[in-house]
Amino acid sequence: MNHLELIDVLYKYGKNEKQVLPTKEALAFLIRKLCAEFQSGKERPGVSYLQKLAQETAVSCFGTGIYLRGLIEFTNYCRNNCYYCGIRCGNEKLKRYRLTPEEILSCCDKGRKLGFQTFVLQGGEDMHYSDAEIADLIGKIKDRYPDSAVTLSFGERNYSVYKQWFDAGADRYLLRHETASKTHYEKLHPPDMSYENRIDCLFNLKEIGYQTGSGFMVGSPYQTEYDLAEDLIFLSALKPHMIGIGPFLPHKDTPFRNKASGTLEQTLIMLGLLRIIFPSVLLPATTALASLTENGREQGILFGANVVMPNLSPVSVREHYMLYDGKAFIKDEAAEGKAMLEIRLEKIGYHLAEGRGDYREVLPGKEKN
Ligand code: 5AD
Repeated sequence: MNHLELIDVLYKYGKNEKQVLPTKEALAFLIRKLCAEFQSGKERPGVSYLQKLAQETAVSCFGTGIYLRGLIEFTNYCRNNCYYCGIRCGNEKLKRYRLTPEEILSCCDKGRKLGFQTFVLQGGEDMHYSDAEIADLIGKIKDRYPDSAVTLSFGERNYSVYKQWFDAGADRYLLRHETASKTHYEKLHPPDMSYENRIDCLFNLKEIGYQTGSGFMVGSPYQTEYDLAEDLIFLSALKPHMIGIGPFLPHKDTPFRNKASGTLEQTLIMLGLLRIIFPSVLLPATTALASLTENGREQGILFGANVVMPNLSPVSVREHYMLYDGKAFIKDEAAEGKAMLEIRLEKIGYHLAEGRGDYREVLPGKEKN
């Protein structure tokens, strides 16, 4: 099968046409071939075909509306020491901060005035906040804004804690698996972190009833096309509601400071593939993609992304939530950020969508909004 035929197979798989996912070898071949074509600067029939199908699929499932999530980076303390991440506990140069529940609520107020209906509370694995305090905060946000969705992105916890937060009103949870290959996972994380635990967490989140998001970094050190193929296969088993991916970008105070960044081309190809394999999935054009290149977010949308997550954190703390060097939008106030986003979306024929943007199962061609 050539690469165009493989794209057709994935497209049919996404449309539920009794198609099985190609093998890991075939997927790895496809990823390698598309990247080589993209980077050759010459004719790129495969990439153009993928982009066309990915864009059509997204527009057919969601229209040209892009969902907004307000990101609140509420703590940069973390108990983990991931080799790639700027807020790893071993980074002694970082100025650490935590927002109080009142400060977090005022970020929500600010977001609400701007029309945000999803608040994503993201932080390192900071054990300073008790489980009950987080539950209480979730309850307060839901009381104040009953029609908004609360998303947590706060790392690995046991089943009962996830359940407690779900019962307190949290709607969604983001926990990237980072890489689906155990051997690769162990090259990115210290020995006290467990691949199995991370995967268990994801299945637990789904079982509890969260709209669950997973995802991976593109171009992280030691990653091969086989690892990316394994990510696609793993996601087809997990069936998450959201998939967050972005390029790996080095951070100067981590062991991976001298490693190469992930590329724009490979990230766009993975976005396009994810869109055709999982048509209804919520797929953000991430900050890492926007940080890699000036119009990264727009390019992501043109390869099938349908979510953006502007920053609602106070500007004073943004520069300290540095997962990688060169993070975009650290100076923009949320209001300016939103206005700029609207203009940029309009230029490519898209607009901001109203509403919470919950996951819905839609098949391409069956429904539009
Ligand atoms: N480059 C790109 N993405 C990173 N993340 C953490 N560190 C980096 C980095 N150096 C991503 C991880 C994590 C998410 C919050 O940010 O995938 O899950």
